[in-house]
This record gives sequence, C-alpha cells and structure tokens, in this order.
Amino acid sequence: MARRKKIYEGKAKIMYEGPEPGTLVQYFKDDATAFNAEKRATIEGKGVLNNRLSEFFMTGLNAIGVPTHFIKRLNMREQLIRQVEIIPLEVIVRNFAAGSMAKRLGMEEGTALPRPIVEFSYKDDALGDPLVPEEYIIAFGWASQQDLDDIVALALRVNDFVSGVMFGVGIKLVDFKIEIGRIWDGEFVRLVVADEISPDSCRLWDIETGQKLDKDVFRRDLGNLTDAYTEVARRLGVLPTNVTHTTKPTLIN
Ligand code: TMP
Ligand code: ASP
Repeated sequence: MARRKKIYEGKAKIMYEGPEPGTLVQYFKDDATAFNAEKRATIEGKGVLNNRLSEFFMTGLNAIGVPTHFIKRLNMREQLIRQVEIIPLEVIVRNFAAGSMAKRLGMEEGTALPRPIVEFSYKDDALGDPLVPEEYIIAFGWASQQDLDDIVALALRVNDFVSGVMFGVGIKLVDFKIEIGRIWDGEFVRLVVADEISPDSCRLWDIETGQKLDKDVFRRDLGNLTDAYTEVARRLGVLPTNVTHTTKPTLIN
C-alpha cells in the first residue's frame, strides 16, 4: 500500500494528506515536550486521550456555532480536519493567574483575574514563543486588526464553553491556548479554531482539591500524566473503553 504523504510533523502531532482536497488527517503522538522542547518524554496513551478530548471539545464548539477545523474522528489516534492556514500566534486566555503570567507579575498562582485576559505569543520555539503586543502582530502582517477582533471574540467563546463544561465535572479552567486558522471560501476568509484543545494546552485544576490535571503534571514532575488525562476523560464520559495503557497484559490462569 502506498504510504500517505506526511505534510508536517510537530512536537505532539503529525499531519497527513487527507482523503479529499482541503482536508488533512491529524495524528496524535504520545510525545510530550515542555519549555520549548527542552524537556521531552513519550507518555504511553497520551495521544489517544488527546484525540478523544480534542474531538469532544471541537464537536461541542461546532454544535454551538463556534467554527473549528474538526470534521470527524477516524480512529484511536487520528481525526479528519479541514486544512487551514495557521496564523502564527498562540492565543492564550487566562481566567486565573498561573504559569508565565504569575511569574512575570509576581502573582500567586490561582489568583482570580478581574476578567478573562487574552494575550498573544508569536509561534516560534527557537525564540521561546515570545509574548507579542497587538501592535507587532498588525505591523508585521501576521493578522489584521479585524482578524484580532474576531480572534478575541472566538477565544472568549471557547473560554465560556470550555469553562462551563469543565465546571460541570468539578474542574477549573485556569487558562488555555488555542491556535486559529484561515479557510478560504471563494473570495471570503473565515477564521476557525484549529490545532487541538486538550490537557496539553490547558491548565485544569480540580475545584475541590486543586489537583493539577494537565501538562503541568509533566512540566513540574507532579506524577503520572496519563492518569491525570484519564481522569479528565473519565469525568467527561469520553474515556475510550478498550484502552488500558497503564496496565500491562496479565495472564489469566
Ligand atoms: P504559560 O502560562 O506558560 O504562558 O501558558 C499559558 C497556557 O498556554 C497554559 O494553559 C499552557 C498553554 N501553553 C501551550 O499550550 N503551549 C505552549 O507552548 C505554552 C508556553 C503554553
Ligand atoms: N508546549 C510546550 C509547553 O507547554 C512548549 C514546548 O513544546 O516546548 O511547555
């Protein structure tokens, strides 16, 4: 069988040519990186969980009228997506201070912010994804002012949706990152939520205990990452039924 054409390989995902023009197959790897790939590991089962979780959030967003690149999940590790032109920005929404914001401003992690704050980083690992003001984004032509207004509106809708869904299962959405893609419809350009929405790109804390259920478990060596993601998937009711990554095959006597 002819091998599929690989379009792009990132740190956590691979894109293959899709079955029809304008589509891609997004494959979720088990690789985890942190601090711009300074720290790396392979975490068995992570890709399967993120494929399911991203499907769950993207499907929900599509259903409430927030456009995303997601078409359908194909199998345990792959989903069919619309091909988009990725805007080279990490769009970060914060509800509570944590991570780089807490560090930069000397704030205690978990401090509630007066309102959700949207910020942009320029997507470039070699530079450490630097925070950039809107002025840079417009001046360098990465996005227009109109795009930015639309991106902020999209990001806040994603925030409301994901915060609400997570609250329903006892989890606080502290912050998250999304990426936005452009899709051409003839003359018109539409902006859609792209990449993934998963515990790799969110901070998720148990509301009762404060336990971290996201990639900080890996970044900060706080325990087993697959267990944390499995807990998120279990609470959302999207746990794949036949996956037992953390247990080895056992002999039945
Ligand atoms: P930060 O506090 O490190 O700036 O991260 C903010 C949010 O963005 C957090 O939920 C993790 C997510 N994030 C990514 O998804 N990818 C990245 O490369 C970085 C730096 C953060
Ligand atoms: N996404 C990673 C992080 O959150 C950054 C990287 O891939 O190096 O730390």
